[in-house]
Amino acid sequence: MKTIILIGAKGKMGQAALSGLGKHKVVTASRSGNGTDHCVDITNEDSIRNLYQQVGDFDAVVNTVGECEYAPFSEMAEKQWSTTVQSKMMGQINLVRIGLEYIKENGSFTLISGILNVKPIPLAIADAVTSSAIDSFVKCVSYELPKGMRVNAINPTVIEEAWGVYGDMMPGFQPVPGSLVGKAFERSVDGFLNGEVIYVDA
Ligand SMILES: NC(=O)c1ccc[n+]([C@@H]2O[C@H](COP(=O)([O-])OP(=O)(O)OC[C@H]3O[C@@H](n4cnc5c(N)ncnc54)[C@H](OP(=O)(O)O)[C@@H]3O)[C@@H](O)[C@H]2O)c1
Repeated sequence: MKTIILIGAKGKMGQAALSGLGKHKVVTASRSGNGTDHCVDITNEDSIRNLYQQVGDFDAVVNTVGECEYAPFSEMAEKQWSTTVQSKMMGQINLVRIGLEYIKENGSFTLISGILNVKPIPLAIADAVTSSAIDSFVKCVSYELPKGMRVNAINPTVIEEAWGVYGDMMPGFQPVPGSLVGKAFERSVDGFLNGEVIYVDA
């Protein structure tokens, strides 16, 4: 049994990830801390450090947080780009960068990207671009991780549990059950994959 920090645990993707981590001790965290074991703001370095110090020994970090702003490219203000970059891109990169100091040997990091960098739709340019950044990040940084550590990204299509939120934006997409995406998280944590983008699409 591993000790896994699951960030964004109460969100839709967090619940999907949780469904694949049943055989482990899962320590949960989110921005508000509502219904989770810890509070963390992944856009704040001190907050990330604080979370890792509070948890102490852990074998894996699974992140399902990446706040994205949605607008047509011509209307997307720099602040909206910045929000998305600071959360979905730099927040996740910092979880790994700082996590190297705290995670156990042979530990793993699993990040979230999303299918919109492969299948673009209107309004989602910032989500798509930062998802591509995360997919590139895991491929490239895997060569530099010390002590047997691994890193992967889960790149899912929309899940059924989120179809009510995103369905209108995504005509022609087929949602998948969150439990299927949970299997991808399980493969990342319990397998030997490293530097991989694990796609889950219908
Ligand atoms: N849902 C899908 O079908 C789907 C598919 C592919 C990719 N994704 C990606 O998955 C990610 C999560 O989506 P979701 O649908 O699960 O969103 P969600 O249901 O709105 O959940 C978001 C979660 O993130 C937490 N959070 C937000 N900002 C945070 C921060 N700065 N620090 C720590 N926690 C923070 C929230 O915590 P609080 O509630 O406490 O604020 C909440 O637990 C997004 O990047 C999305 O693009 C989603």
